[in-house]
Amino acid sequence: MSVKELMRATVAPLSNEVFDAAVWVNGIPTGVPTTDEEWDEVKDSALTLAEAGNLLMMTPRARDTSGWMVRAQELVAAALSAAKATDSKDLETMFRAGGVLDATCDACHNLYPPLEMPAPTAPMR
Ligand code: HEC
Repeated sequence: MSVKELMRATVAPLSNEVFDAAVWVNGIPTGVPTTDEEWDEVKDSALTLAEAGNLLMMTPRARDTSGWMVRAQELVAAALSAAKATDSKDLETMFRAGGVLDATCDACHNLYPPLEMPAPTAPMR
């Protein structure tokens, strides 16, 4: 699996499970876990996300032995913290963990941006 495939198949959907565990619409919790089973599912997603972070560090995905590894380790750590946060079953705690996780995505993408898309040759219709 390439980095791109790993992002699409695991990192993006699993992190969405974590982000979706703390959502409010007009101040009302929306679509968030309510039962122990649902919280366990979020925990499983966070744990699997941590393992996906480990896969980022394997050859041939790792882009180098320094900055890439640090960013991938930050993802692993944030995913493990998010897994722990599910034990609280507290939306504010979960929201903070999601924010930390989100920052690790940006930190890596800023340093290793996805390949640029070719510029459109004509105005988009
Ligand atoms: C260690 C570095 C690293 C981390 C951490 C990381 N990404 Fe990525 N991500 C990449 C790279 C590199 C690409 C570009 C891959 C390519 O186009 O070949 C990418 C691409 C993507 C894409 C675009 C996939 C596509 O269809 O082209 C998504 C979505 C994505 N990442 C989501 C995330 C999310 C969500 C997180 C955090 C939970 C995250 N990534 C964390 C390195 C990282």
